[in-house]
Amino acid sequence: MMGLYVHIPFCRQRCFYCGFFSVKYDLVLADRYVCALIEHAKRFSNEKIRSIYIGGGTPSVLSIKQIQKLIESLNSVLDMSKLQEFTFELNPESSSTEKLDLLKKLGVNRLSIGLQSTEDRLLKFLGRVHNFKAFYDIYDVARKEGFDNINIDLIYGLPNQAVKDWKEVLEKVLILDSDHLSLYPLSIENDTFFYKNNITVNNDIQRNMYDVTVKMLNKKYDHYEISNWAKKYKRSLHNTNYWRNFEYIGLGAGASGYFNRVRYKNIQSVEEYINLLLSSQETKNRLVHNKIFPLEVENEYIDKHLYKTETIMLGLRLLNEGLNINCFNNPKHNATLLKCLNNKTLKKRNKRIVLVEKYVFVSNYIISQFLN
Ligand SMILES: C[S@@+](CC[C@H](N)C(=O)[O-])C[C@H]1O[C@@H](n2cnc3c(N)ncnc32)[C@H](O)[C@@H]1O
Repeated sequence: MMGLYVHIPFCRQRCFYCGFFSVKYDLVLADRYVCALIEHAKRFSNEKIRSIYIGGGTPSVLSIKQIQKLIESLNSVLDMSKLQEFTFELNPESSSTEKLDLLKKLGVNRLSIGLQSTEDRLLKFLGRVHNFKAFYDIYDVARKEGFDNINIDLIYGLPNQAVKDWKEVLEKVLILDSDHLSLYPLSIENDTFFYKNNITVNNDIQRNMYDVTVKMLNKKYDHYEISNWAKKYKRSLHNTNYWRNFEYIGLGAGASGYFNRVRYKNIQSVEEYINLLLSSQETKNRLVHNKIFPLEVENEYIDKHLYKTETIMLGLRLLNEGLNINCFNNPKHNATLLKCLNNKTLKKRNKRIVLVEKYVFVSNYIISQFLN
């Protein structure tokens, strides 16, 4: 049983903070891209798919026809008999009642909406093309369409945002009563508009905001992962399986996957991805044989030791679930575990090892000790 991630690398406009791979949406290019994705999916027809996540970029920027063709084809090419969760990422400006209606009919049972902030001045600062009202309208439509599993993405700790501003954002969000929240502190990624314009963040303020968030949300939501909160039975199965270090298929330009013990990344160019998948067999063989454009540009075999290290590093992100103590049976991992139990950054709960609450915001440091 597998997860399937499908990357849609198209956006109307690049956000100022965004370091993910995307290009400007173009109807003709996107038509060909959808065909390439379907060709790519055919290679995995033997796998039983447990969860699908169509992310981006901006998947909702695709036209109705493109969305329909993509999802119907995935359904016919892949084995969906065991599918439990099907997430589709939306941005407010490119969503509509018709698209939501179609997604519902095609079996999408979870939406993830990129809101980022409830304040129009901050949305503008982030380079978003929507305002809060556009988000609210589409959220309302989604509820009316019967979607009962909706995630909202938000970013906090912007340079012009005080702790009290963030509290106001959270108050508004609590009223929306979504099923799931993904909240990330702003990070300045290489080659973004923010990076080039020397925008910086204040880690102490971000930490205060994180503490406020925990206080305000943990009564109503289950804080199940460092940056993710869910209502009962509404944890993301797809993402949880990443943190459990399960394998998944990655389709699309720039997408990563983890299949047959190999972590891979697909070529990060829409044109080259399309060429590789849609050209004649003869051309494909030539391109691949001459290693001109291999479809997978990064390949790493995950041996037993690396698998154990990754399992620990990912599993500690799951705050309640953590890891079974047996996962630390390698002598190096065991020594690090003992050190962390001694200095009380990790603790034992029943037979499982979890992060101590007050260190969750600085967990990167704690977790990274298992790398050595
Ligand atoms: C792959 S992005 C999804 C893009 C989505 N279509 C959108 O535009 O909102 C997933 C989420 O990661 C978060 N994110 C992306 N870049 C970030 C950054 N530099 N700092 C903090 N959070 C970021 C945002 O909350 C974003 O919604």
